[in-house]
Amino acid sequence: MTPPDYEYLRKLLKEHSGLDLSADKQYLVESRLIPLAHKCGHSGIGELVAKMKSGGEALITEVVEAMTTNETFFFRDKIPFDHLRETVLPTLLQSRAGRRSIRIWSAASSTGQEPYSIAMVLKEQAQQLAGWRVEIVATDLSLEVLEKSKSGIYSQFEVQRGLPIQLLVKYFTQTGELWQINPDIRGMVQHRQLNLLQNFAHLGKFDVIFCRNVLIYFDQETKINTFERLKEVLETDGMLLLGAAESVVGITDAFRPCPDRRGLYQPNPLRARSNAGAMTQGLKVVATR
Ligand SMILES: C[S@@+](CC[C@H](N)C(=O)[O-])C[C@H]1O[C@@H](n2cnc3c(N)ncnc32)[C@H](O)[C@@H]1O
Repeated sequence: MTPPDYEYLRKLLKEHSGLDLSADKQYLVESRLIPLAHKCGHSGIGELVAKMKSGGEALITEVVEAMTTNETFFFRDKIPFDHLRETVLPTLLQSRAGRRSIRIWSAASSTGQEPYSIAMVLKEQAQQLAGWRVEIVATDLSLEVLEKSKSGIYSQFEVQRGLPIQLLVKYFTQTGELWQINPDIRGMVQHRQLNLLQNFAHLGKFDVIFCRNVLIYFDQETKINTFERLKEVLETDGMLLLGAAESVVGITDAFRPCPDRRGLYQPNPLRARSNAGAMTQGLKVVATR
């Protein structure tokens, strides 16, 4: 891959998905895009880039999707789901007793293991949540992963990663070598395509946001901007869960860590007004599809 082709792809990926590739990540781009180039009948990345430059919108979407990292598994890192069960839900059961509704957003949901893990935690509390309206919204940039998520179908390998056997038996049906999550759990999750670089205020307010293992790919400015906008759609007493390698510390004061609850954050009440409007002005937003 020539340096100008790499620069073109680096810029394009940052604009379309927020992916911030350092100057030494050519190997990563090559390993993901050479197979795509061949699949599309091109000899290599040079031809692929030329095609993209000549207005290949659909190809650009394929390239962006090929470069996203979709790694996920059921109950990933365990702790966030313990927080959900032991801290977040008991708090909401009290604070939302008046309206009896809870809205949860899985903001980069990949192939669905995260939103379905949330749904199973809630289902296990069915008695306490009887009569409550529970909404889980799963969004991702990639239509391909959303399709898989909607199907709720997983391989033997995928259900062996993180999913306790008793939940597999209880909530999945086996068909040959595949397992499908049952319709009652599937029905708890609504899917939508959404690019976190774009406005998401239309999703409405949430009580809980899981935004895990996606901000890690963004540069500092995009992280700050995203945190500001996440704060806008989170209730003032809502809770944000980040990935194990992610934090707000040193990045934003829009959220503050909950003491003794690693990975759990709340909007910072000392920040009287968000400056999200001002911050989004500087962000270039590009539609991917
Ligand atoms: C590593 S997975 C994380 C999945 C899940 N949250 C977890 O922690 O297991 C990252 C997901 O973020 C999605 N993604 C990447 N850039 C995005 C963006 N700008 N907006 C929305 N989703 C994005 C990818 O398509 C991918 O499915």
